[in-house]
Formats: sequence, C-alpha cells, structure tokens
Amino acid sequence: MSQTVLPESAVPSIPTRILLGPGPSNVSPRVLQAMIQPMIGYLDPDFMLIMDEVRELLKRVYQTEAANTLAISGTGSAGMEAGLSSLLEPGDTVVMCIYGFFCERMVEMASRIGANVVPLRAGWGRPFPEEMLEEELKKHTNVKMVTAIHAETSTGVRQPMTNLARLAKENDALLMVDSVTSLGGNEVLFDQWDADYAYSATQKCLGCPPGLSPVAVSDRAVDVMRNREKAPVSWYLDLSLLGNYWGWEGNRVYHHTAPVSMILALREGLRLALSEGLTQRFQRHTLNAKALCAGLEAFGLECVVPEEHRLAQITVVQIPDGVDDSSVRQSLLRNFGIEIGGGLGELAGKVWRIGLMGESSKAEYVLALLSALESVLPKAGYEVAHGSGVAAANNVFKS
Ligand SMILES: Cc1ncc(COP(=O)(O)O)c(C=O)c1O
Repeated sequence: MSQTVLPESAVPSIPTRILLGPGPSNVSPRVLQAMIQPMIGYLDPDFMLIMDEVRELLKRVYQTEAANTLAISGTGSAGMEAGLSSLLEPGDTVVMCIYGFFCERMVEMASRIGANVVPLRAGWGRPFPEEMLEEELKKHTNVKMVTAIHAETSTGVRQPMTNLARLAKENDALLMVDSVTSLGGNEVLFDQWDADYAYSATQKCLGCPPGLSPVAVSDRAVDVMRNREKAPVSWYLDLSLLGNYWGWEGNRVYHHTAPVSMILALREGLRLALSEGLTQRFQRHTLNAKALCAGLEAFGLECVVPEEHRLAQITVVQIPDGVDDSSVRQSLLRNFGIEIGGGLGELAGKVWRIGLMGESSKAEYVLALLSALESVLPKAGYEVAHGSGVAAANNVFKS
C-alpha cells in the first residue's frame, strides 16, 4: 500500500504565548507533564482513587466540608447547563441576577429547559444591587432557585455573595453560583454562603487546559435532583448520574468515558493551587492586578471598575478614543506573543479585558505587557510616556 503524503500543516508547532485574556490562561509544565502519563481505564481501581483525591481537593478549593464534588466533562458552560437542567424542571421559577454577558447565557439555558425565568437586569460594570433581589422575592412564594455569578468575566466585577445568599435562603430557594473565573483566584465560600450548586472551569484560575467543569453540590440539591418528577432532558449532564459515576454514594456506575488525561491535569492543578496556599494565591492575584492597573493608569488609561469592586483576575480597561481595538490586540499577539481579550456583548470594541489568572498571574507578565503596550499604543495613535507603565507597576511590587 502506498503511503499517503499529507500536506504540510499551517501550524506545525504551537507558538508559545503569554495568555493574558479571559482564558485559557497559561498552564504549568507540571500540569502538562501530568497529562502525558500512560492511559488508564476509567474504572481502573487506581483511577478511582485518583477521582476520590480530585473530589477531596475540590472540596478544599470550594471551602466546603459537606458538599459533593466532581468534575464534569466539558467546559464551564457544561457546569452551568448541568446545574440548571438537573435542578430545574419545566415551570419551576428561577430568579436570575443579571449584570453581564454570562448571566444572559444562564437565562437562555434556563428558558430552553422550560423554567419560569425571572430575569432581574441591572447595569453592567457594578455589582448587582441586592435590594433588587429582595424586592423581587417578595412578589413570589415559590422560587425554586436564585442564580448569580461571583466573577462576571465580561465586566470584571466581583459580586459580593453574602447578602444574595442570605436572601435566597430566607426565601427557601436553592442558590446557584457561577465561580468559573473565581475558583482558585478568589475566596469561593461554598459552605459559608450556604450555596447549593457552584460550578467552575479548569482553564482560568485553576491553571489547567480547558475541558472540565469542577462542581460542588449540596446535599439539599442532591435531594432535589433525586426527587424530580421527571428525569432531566439532558442525559449527559444529569448530575445525579454523574454523581453515581464519581462515587457520591459509594459504588460507581459507569456513565461515560471520562477524559482521563484532563482529570490527571486537574489533580495536579489543584495540588499546585493548594500547596501554594489559597490565601497566598489570592494575594498574588491581588498584587499583580494592582500593579497592572497602576501601570495602565500611568499610561492615562482607565480601569473601568471601581477599585473596591474590581476582580484581581480580570482587568477591564477602556479603549481610548480613536484607537482600534483589534489592531492593538493583533499587534500584541503577532509581535510580542501576548494575548489579551476584547469586550463582550455591549462592551465589544469599547474595552480590553486583561486576564491575570492562575499561572498567568505573574509579575513578569505584567511588566512584559506594559512594556509591549508602550510600543504598540503609540503606533495606534495613543502616545504614552516612555517607561511610565513599568515604573508605576514596579512601585506597587516594591511597596
Ligand atoms: C463567568 C463565566 N461563566 C461561564 C463561562 C463559560 O465557560 P466556558 O467558556 O468554559 O464554557 C465563562 C467563560 O469565560 C465565564 O467567564
């Protein structure tokens, strides 16, 4: 048989990038190394032990004693859809706090499930006002669930959760929290908030490739799932079936072929995060974001979110008048190997989103970006004082 000659690939090897967008972020060599271990069966007793370990490690990052944890095969959106479709039945009332692009995605998913969706829309760029939820909840007697996003990646706002959580509980509603951009970069206090379902994604502050959605589920939410009238429409994302595979009740029932290498990656990413120490990790994120903002402000750029509400893992910065969004981003990528993100939804073309998440949250990346911007911005028609950004960032690092 003659051998087929393949055409040369357009991208024969993956370029090394500094990933400072909204995710994926850079991945530690230790995590990549974990992925190239030999393949193992998804019901192999040794793999079961690894899954148990991942469940335990997830409990620690979610800061929970009691919750049931697992990692869904899929990205953050799979975690979002699994929670909505496993906990809501058609006709159930869900009150959704909306203050950004990803909140709207939840509305779309819950509507497709046939839930009675009550969207509470507040302005983007500020935390959701808890009074709005309080007022709305007074109008209902049967709210099944309240949803909120802890870290809205589209706006860069950190949502205070305590009062939203309290209101959900006072109204006997389940609380679902999106922690896609916060887990591993911010305190996610599953038990303290008395949350019922939280989901995340591996590619942001957990420093792994995209592909898994780690979740935590309260016992109360497990009861709700087990006592549904009808099984959820989605079989693949049925949390109750997934819980059976992850051994929530002891024995394991095959569900689907687990992405073994990704689970090995997650285990290593979690071990790295916890051995750094959660508090130290959060402080690292805070310091690097502070230095970045100082540098950007020294250029005369505006960090959109007021400091007290700013997320450390994603900085949203206003694009100056007359500067072309995509040519700046392309120049950073092509000439400096640095990726930053553009705006989403109503912020498209108006802001850049600079992620400093997990392995990407490093002083050297902050300084590299500021010095690259010093070269790119003047070519885009925006003059900056030479050396000012790096100097301002270094002042923060020194203090
Ligand atoms: C807050 C938030 N929720 C959900 C998602 C969806 O996650 P994924 O893209 O991993 O499906 C994202 C993605 O950036 C996000 O930032």
